[in-house]
This record gives sequence, C-alpha cells and structure tokens, in this order.
Amino acid sequence: MKKVVYTKIGGPNSIEIHDFEPVELKHDEVRVRIFRAGINFADLMMRQGLYGSNPDFPFTPGYEVSGEIIELGEGVERLEVGQRVIVMTGFGGYSEQVVASTNRVIPIPDSISYDAAATLGVTYGTAYHMLVHLGNMRKGESVLIHHAAGGVGTAAVQICQALGVTNIIGTASSSKREFVESLGMRFVDRDAEDFVMVCKDMTNGKGVHHAIDPVGGKHLMRSYKALRNGGKLYCFGASAAVTGPKRNYFSAFKMWRSTPKFNPLIMMNSNKAIFGVHMGRMDESTVFESHMMDLAKMLQQGKIDPIIDSVWRFEKVADAQQHMHDRKNRGKVLLDFS
Ligand SMILES: NC(=O)c1ccc[n+]([C@@H]2O[C@H](COP(=O)([O-])OP(=O)(O)OC[C@H]3O[C@@H](n4cnc5c(N)ncnc54)[C@H](OP(=O)(O)O)[C@@H]3O)[C@@H](O)[C@H]2O)c1
Repeated sequence: MKKVVYTKIGGPNSIEIHDFEPVELKHDEVRVRIFRAGINFADLMMRQGLYGSNPDFPFTPGYEVSGEIIELGEGVERLEVGQRVIVMTGFGGYSEQVVASTNRVIPIPDSISYDAAATLGVTYGTAYHMLVHLGNMRKGESVLIHHAAGGVGTAAVQICQALGVTNIIGTASSSKREFVESLGMRFVDRDAEDFVMVCKDMTNGKGVHHAIDPVGGKHLMRSYKALRNGGKLYCFGASAAVTGPKRNYFSAFKMWRSTPKFNPLIMMNSNKAIFGVHMGRMDESTVFESHMMDLAKMLQQGKIDPIIDSVWRFEKVADAQQHMHDRKNRGKVLLDFS
C-alpha cells in the first residue's frame, strides 16, 4: 500500500510517497479503500509548519476522503463491506487505504460520485456550518465571500443560491473574474478593488449580512467593516500567513500581529457578531453528521453541484499543491487513489 508523507517542514519537494503495511482492525473500526482525497488549503499550511494542530513530522495529511468499505472490525453493526462512504480522517487521508472508527464514517448514496463526495466534508461542511448553522442565513440576505473561486468559496456561493440568497460579492485574483461572475457573484479583484466599498454599494450603503473571512490579519477588520448593523463575520482561516510554497515566518508573524482585537462593548452598539470556526476541532459529531445529511440531500436534489478544478494522481501531489500555491485552482482539487 502507498501513502503520501510530509517528511519535514518544507516546500512541495519535501513530500514523499511511502509504502506501508495494513494494520489489524480494532473494535468498531473499518478499513476503507480510498478513491479520492480532497486537498485543503490547511494541508499546504501544515506542510509549512504554519497550522498548529497537526501531528509531528513525518505524517500523512488528508482530512476528507471518499471510498469503499473493504473490511469490518469486531462490533461494527451499522456499516457493510462494499458500502460507499465519506471518511473524515482528521489526518492520514492521502493514502490508498485508511482505518477509521465508525463515528468518522458517513455512508453516501450510490448516486453521489466519489469526486463529489470528497468535497462534502470539509469544503461544503465548513460553508454550511458557517452560513446555515451558525448564521441562520435567510433568503434575500447579502453575503461576502473571499477566495470566492476556491473550494470553500464555490461551495459557499452554491449554498447561498440554494437558499435563495443572490446578493453575493466574491473576491479573488484578477484572472478569475469571468469564472466568479459566471457563478453569479459580483466580482471584486482582491488586489485592486476595495471590497468594503463594493459591499456598501451593493447594499444601499448598509453593508452585508454575512462575511466569511479565511484570510485573517488586518483583512478581518475590513470584512468586519463590510457588515451592516446585525451582520455576522466568520473567521475561519489565516491565508495571509502564506506567501508561497515555502514557509515565510515574517508574513505569518505579521498576520498574527495585525489580527484585530474586537471589543464586545463596541460590537454591542452595532449588533455585530464574530464566529471563530475550525471544523477540525468541532466536538459535536452529531451536528456535523446532520450537516452531511442535509448536504447529501441538496446534492441529490441538484441544489448544489461541486465544482472540481482538477483530479491529480496521488504521485503528483506536489504538483497539485503547487497549483494551489500558484492560485490557479477554480473549485476543488482532488487526489486520485483509485
Ligand atoms: N476553519 C476551517 O475549518 C476551514 C475549513 C476549510 C477551509 N478553511 C480555510 O478556507 C480557505 C479556503 O480553503 P480551500 O481549501 O477551499 O482552498 P482554496 O480556496 O481552494 O485555496 C486556494 C485559493 O486561495 C487563495 N489564496 C489566498 N491567499 C493565498 C496564498 N497565500 N497562496 C495561495 N492561494 C491563496 C487563492 O485564490 P485567489 O487568489 O483567487 O484569492 C487560491 O486559488 C483557506 O484559508 C482555509 O484554511 C478553513
């Protein structure tokens, strides 16, 4: 069996493919043959040692995979061999096989492809958790989405539209204008335009109801300023810490230092709310399972339709990650382990 290994902190060239022997299953565990593994921006940050909650090096990354159960451990009742599943691996998903305890395994209907299934967990799950579960987003509201052309960005816009939200502003690199507009968003060039002004312009001067911010640092305060009275800001990433394929301590430190300190008493005056969101640290698995059930239903009803940028053979994982560092992806990037 083969798996991808992050050998040490470094650029994509520090990634290696290693052989491994399958381990024995314990009680309540299943073995899953992987077809697709999602690459998340967090995987790039982990490789650079900028993530904070990954295992010690060397380790195998990979939060979300889709595949088929090939073996059941003792005591497993609700799952079967041959069943198609998503596994929220936490780590270790970039692999031909994984062993997972049953509470991390979610069955998927036959009508959902392995590609689509590998986007549901982190990518759609995060957008859904923020806007629907925490934000109680309603038809007619307005939303600001950063990295609008990426994995979570494209998932978020589809979830908005499925719920009747059409006033959506999306920031991205200039080369993605056409793509972002084709998804039904008002495009904002992240490097050349002031998204706060655009948000005000698009909402009769009031500001947006929801802003999802994966950038962090001083960018967070700008997203906060783009909100209306009663608006909600979701802080769920720190891409400002990353400047290229290799770690840059200076930009990571700058991002951390420039992160605003919000004062609840001042927030009170404008009824604004801020959520910190980290799906990898969510305690309530029942909440997550219910998100997955809702999203699987939306997928089957054609209300969402994952945009897959590209699928790379796992041996090409370094190139796939470089593609994301180069800001070239439009939608989700997947690894093929089939
Ligand atoms: N908290 C959570 O639980 C959680 C879960 C999922 C994702 N996230 C966060 O959400 C964000 C999006 O994640 P994703 O996995 O869907 O990735 P993604 O958006 O597909 O990531 C790649 C895109 O990020 C943008 N970007 C911004 N700064 C960048 C940089 N320094 N280097 C390369 N690209 C950069 C680029 O688009 P443009 O140049 O067009 O902006 C690029 O195409 C990430 O910050 C991630 O950490 C958080």
